Amino acid sequence: MKAALLVAVMITTVSAETEADTSRGPQILKAQNCIQCHTVGADDANKGSAPSLGRSLNREYSSAGLVSAMWNHGPTMWSAMKQANIAKPKLNDKDSADLMAYFASLRFFEPAGDAARGVKLVQSKNCVQCHAVAGVGSGVARPMHQWDSVSDPVSLVQRMWNHAPQMRKAQADRRFKWQSLSAQDLSDILVYVRSLPGRKAEPAYFGMPPVETGASLLEANGCTTCHKGALSLDTRTVNRSLTEIAAAMYNHAPKMLQNPGGMSGEEMRKVVGHLWGKQFLHPAGDQDRGRQLFMTAKCDTCHGLEGAPKLTGRVSTVRMVSAIWEHGEEMQSKIKSNKGSWPTLNEKQMSDLIAYLDWRATDGKPAK
Ligand code: HEC
Ligand code: HEC
Ligand code: HEC
Ligand code: HEC
Repeated sequence: MKAALLVAVMITTVSAETEADTSRGPQILKAQNCIQCHTVGADDANKGSAPSLGRSLNREYSSAGLVSAMWNHGPTMWSAMKQANIAKPKLNDKDSADLMAYFASLRFFEPAGDAARGVKLVQSKNCVQCHAVAGVGSGVARPMHQWDSVSDPVSLVQRMWNHAPQMRKAQADRRFKWQSLSAQDLSDILVYVRSLPGRKAEPAYFGMPPVETGASLLEANGCTTCHKGALSLDTRTVNRSLTEIAAAMYNHAPKMLQNPGGMSGEEMRKVVGHLWGKQFLHPAGDQDRGRQLFMTAKCDTCHGLEGAPKLTGRVSTVRMVSAIWEHGEEMQSKIKSNKGSWPTLNEKQMSDLIAYLDWRATDGKPAK
């Protein structure tokens, strides 16, 4: 890890706010012996015996995808731990929240940016027509190396959002069309701009304020005038990364001309954090398919279908991570002694299961 990430991430649960602290991530990985086998930082050569958990695999996980990977690899890990005499990790809900937040801060769930692609993009998307790059060109707008914070995609989008009316006008004067950006584009541009000569080093930062205020900001900023019914953001922002949500907002900034009340960095974070955090914890799954799966994967033989032992409190991706690390091995040995085999669950199935377990745990009334 190059930069210190001292950020607090707030994650909502039904009864209380669980504050997730990304700075505890490295500590947990160490204390729980994960790094006995895994390397984590993107730049680490994989010295461990296990897959690197950094970006080097260049594998894009959603939160449910990561949970399913842990679930599926559980048995191999537990026997590897026994063999190597490594103490078995136990992660409670708080540890799991911190660990997931830490992975989010490493932008583990995001497309990895690439500066070489970024150079091409700022040309093909016309940015260089108005923003000079490293002293070349004399654009009408601020040179790229002088842009305010480019610490993370949300802050970049916030700047672009607030300047949308000026950008639009400058573009109209030149008959340029508004250029849409994908999450990948945004990551590439970000990495490129961060690498420009003359830019002050800036820690890669990932921050999330409490998510509960986000909902009222959607109202206050006029989002809900369009985003209701079929366009409701509750059902549309599913399994999206933070950057995808930020990119989507940028892409329709021109539609917002009647209403471009600027947003502060803090407000933008709250809006994006609210939309992202909800689906990070509760990836869109189908509770009926989850219930079906609970039977076909034989979970019900021990857990019962409707009855006891019942999970209480909301079941989220974070809760599943702690379930795997706190109870996984015991579950596996019970399954073994019943002559069963460990069920593997793909990302989609994991999402369905979480939806079902959450529905069950909250008496069919998961809190919004
Ligand atoms: C004793 C060594 C060992 C320890 C300790 C260990 N793991 Fe693993 N882990 C493995 C091995 C080996 C695999 C690959 C298993 C396989 O191929 O089925 C793996 C796979 C994984 C995967 C899936 C990776 C992928 O890209 O598919 C995740 C996620 C993971 N481990 C997380 C953790 C976490 C979090 C901890 C600490 C709480 C941990 N591991 C501790 C050995 C270990
Ligand atoms: C037609 C001209 C034009 C084009 C093309 C253009 N911009 Fe801008 N941009 C502006 C203007 C005007 C402003 C507001 C005034 C300023 O920042 O100098 C602005 C402001 C910004 C800011 C805020 C700067 C800050 O201080 O933080 C960012 C970031 C930005 N643009 C990014 C981009 C990106 C990325 C592209 C390409 C996808 C792009 N712009 C394309 C004209 C343009
Ligand atoms: C003028 C109407 C309008 C307003 C106001 C509006 N949006 Fe949108 N938004 C749309 C439309 C239409 C789409 C779908 C675009 C598409 O499918 O290409 C969309 C898509 C999105 C998406 C991507 C989700 C998806 O369905 O693909 C996000 C995230 C989003 N809007 C956030 C916001 C936020 C946050 C605000 C308030 C700051 C806002 N929008 C205000 C019309 C609006
Ligand atoms: C052979 C019996 C058995 C099977 C089959 C089984 N489990 Fe478990 N499960 C257990 C035991 C035992 C525990 C630990 C209970 C404890 O420690 O209180 C547990 C714990 C859990 C927990 C954590 C509960 C909590 O309070 O956080 C979850 C979640 C879970 N199992 C999900 C599943 C799912 C999903 C399946 C099917 C894919 C499954 N289990 C299959 C026996 C089983």
